[in-house]
Amino acid sequence: MITRILSVANQKGGVGKTTTAINLAASLALADQKVLLVDMDPQGNLTSGVGLKGQATAAGTIYEGLTGDGEDPSAFVLPTQIAGLFLIPADRNLTGAEIDLVTLPNRESRLRTLLGALRDQFDYIFIDTPPSLGLLTLNSLVAADAVLIPLNCEYFALEGLADLVATLRRVRAAFNPGLDIAGVLMTMHDERTNLGQQVARDIRAFFTDRVYTTVIPRNVRLGEAPSHGLPVVLYDAKSRGAEAYVTLAREFLARETAPPAAPATEQHHG
Ligand SMILES: Nc1ncnc2c1ncn2[C@@H]1O[C@H](COP(=O)(O)OP(=O)(O)OP(=O)(O)O)[C@@H](O)[C@H]1O
Ligand SMILES: [Mg+2]
Repeated sequence: MITRILSVANQKGGVGKTTTAINLAASLALADQKVLLVDMDPQGNLTSGVGLKGQATAAGTIYEGLTGDGEDPSAFVLPTQIAGLFLIPADRNLTGAEIDLVTLPNRESRLRTLLGALRDQFDYIFIDTPPSLGLLTLNSLVAADAVLIPLNCEYFALEGLADLVATLRRVRAAFNPGLDIAGVLMTMHDERTNLGQQVARDIRAFFTDRVYTTVIPRNVRLGEAPSHGLPVVLYDAKSRGAEAYVTLAREFLARETAPPAAPATEQHHG
């Protein structure tokens, strides 16, 4: 099994990182992919969003996984109510990890080591990151093959992106040269407003073909589903929000399994 590890990242708060991690992962699991969600946010929204708030294995949460030494990483994995969808949970303890990690050896690459040992057990691993560019997000970017960037279609969507792009450049230079942008996802889109349309045009102009064709609309069901501890595809499969994430999963799979783009200049050998 060739595992792809994706970090869902944007240091801006409330842009749909957690919603995207849960619902893209759930849609992929329903399409027969084996998927692991990793909660790297002390808010624990990902953990509660799949109905596992307060739960952990005997080994503990991601906090113990990051700060311990040498535990078998499989020991941290919980099953969810969707077959093929698994979780390494987080709780408030993870807040301390930002500080605890500082004095540990390999502080930037502890998640990479942990997930590296799980690599051949899943098709996809999605890491949900907190709204900051601290050590938890850094660990997530160092561990990932690619980053998926959700952007909410609001006036300030592109603001702060220069910081994220600079961080990606630093991570590539220092720790993870292969780190790729898997795609940019427009979320919370309201196509009825001129502003929504204008922002969507700006995002496509900036990121060109990195932007997924699928756009996630603003949809109340997406906001309600987490309070029931359910991905929207289980909470209300017929909602526009659910349909959008199922469509995104299809586009995501097509992109991930497409042959790599031809290089700009052809290499001649011999
Ligand atoms: N497309 C959408 N339509 C309506 N509500 C949404 C949509 N996407 C997300 N939400 C809601 O908006 C809020 C923020 O979304 P979410 O938690 O996914 O963002 P986030 O980027 O993970 O936030 P944080 O930075 O705090 O981790 C949540 O209450 C969520 O349920
Ligand atoms: Mg979140």
